[in-house]
Amino acid sequence: MPITTCVFDAYGTLFDVGAAAAQAAREPAHAALANIWPTIARDWRLKQLQYTWLRAVAGRHCDFWQVTQDGLDWALEANGLSNDATRARLLELYWELAAYPEVPAMLTTLKERGMATAILSNGSPDMLNGAVSSAGIGDVLDAVLSVQSVGVFKPHDSVYDLVRDHFGCARSDVLFVSSNGWDAAGAAGYGFQTVWVNRAGEPMDRLYASPTHVMPDLTQIPELV
Ligand code: LAC
Repeated sequence: MPITTCVFDAYGTLFDVGAAAAQAAREPAHAALANIWPTIARDWRLKQLQYTWLRAVAGRHCDFWQVTQDGLDWALEANGLSNDATRARLLELYWELAAYPEVPAMLTTLKERGMATAILSNGSPDMLNGAVSSAGIGDVLDAVLSVQSVGVFKPHDSVYDLVRDHFGCARSDVLFVSSNGWDAAGAAGYGFQTVWVNRAGEPMDRLYASPTHVMPDLTQIPELV
């Protein structure tokens, strides 16, 4: 089946989640981050995601902003940092994360080829709108779909259902792109065509399905449609 709809995960895929800690570490007021920001960024992301999975299994959904704050608090404590100003700055930067450099041109090319384009994310609508607007990519996205409307985090099937509900397309018409291996696997298990963007050269997750394609970044996505 031809692809009609290209759907992207947000955090880590379009937006660089490491950029908040990297930016704060460059600011004199947050010099304590200078040597440990990569560890903070990694711990923060890992805990944020673990909390989404645990809440999904436990049936205790919350706003993605809550797990974002909870993950950061764990990471700061684990690394011996208890600076309220640094915490506040890191959270502020999460609302204006940089998009990866290839993102605007890639989305523009997809639109020129007649594709429907969307974000499908755990992020709450206000967080996603902040990031989309800060990256200036609102004009090349047809929809920004948030798990908030289904009340459970990825990789629950009801999240991927949001794409079919919105666009009225078949599962096999969708190319779903994520840098999170577990998200690409979840979407592949659901029946989407999938790309795992493996920027970090990680091993593939051992899950119930595998992505259709693996790429190092988003540059080659338009060649698939
Ligand atoms: C998202 C997370 C999983 O944007 O990166 O849904």
